[in-house]
Amino acid sequence: MADRRPADVRIRPATGADLPAIAAIYNHAIRHTAATWDLEEETVESRRVWWEAHCRAGLPVLVAERPGLGVVGWGSLSPFNPKPGWRFTVENSLYVAPDQRGQGIGRRLLEALIAEARALGMHSVIAAIDGGNEVSLRLHRRLGFVEAGRLREAGWKFDQWHDAVYLQLLL
Ligand SMILES: CC(C)(COP(=O)(O)OP(=O)(O)OC[C@H]1O[C@@H](n2cnc3c(N)ncnc32)[C@H](O)[C@@H]1OP(=O)(O)O)[C@@H](O)C(=O)NCCC(=O)NCCS
Repeated sequence: MADRRPADVRIRPATGADLPAIAAIYNHAIRHTAATWDLEEETVESRRVWWEAHCRAGLPVLVAERPGLGVVGWGSLSPFNPKPGWRFTVENSLYVAPDQRGQGIGRRLLEALIAEARALGMHSVIAAIDGGNEVSLRLHRRLGFVEAGRLREAGWKFDQWHDAVYLQLLL
């Protein structure tokens, strides 16, 4: 299959200067999609608290950057559960700016997050995906994630119930 990936995408760790772009991309998804079940938009300051917690925990927040466009997507690994027995399991998040989707950027970010998880000695990565998010389900399956469970009608957003599908990648 032809490689659709834009050659000029650079994946790198986020810095504090990226937080406005990260918040803007996430807030668009909060407003317009059920990809996240957050309902209130984030501020740059609330994203700073989140980013600093990742830095302290040694967990990655990555951005995808394109020349002339700046940050066009971001992804992160977060603790799946704060109890210490869960420390080798992380949850991934992945968001691409709306006008940049469908070009392979999400895939590049997810590949980078998987590489980071391996480098950190993690054993498993979990994605909690809205049951209607076919693009994300497909992307994660393409990279080896398998369905581990479905919570039916666990979320309420945009006046309807949503299933949560848990996909897992064992490293
Ligand atoms: C999900 C998301 C991160 C994927 O990133 P992306 O850059 O758009 O995805 P890619 O271009 O890397 O494509 C990944 C796969 O999805 C497919 N895909 C992408 N856009 C698609 C679309 N609009 N319709 C159908 N399939 C699509 C691609 O064909 C590709 O599959 P393939 O490798 O089998 O060809 C991005 O669409 C997004 O930010 N969506 C809103 C937020 C979200 O859903 N985040 C995930 C929360 S779990």
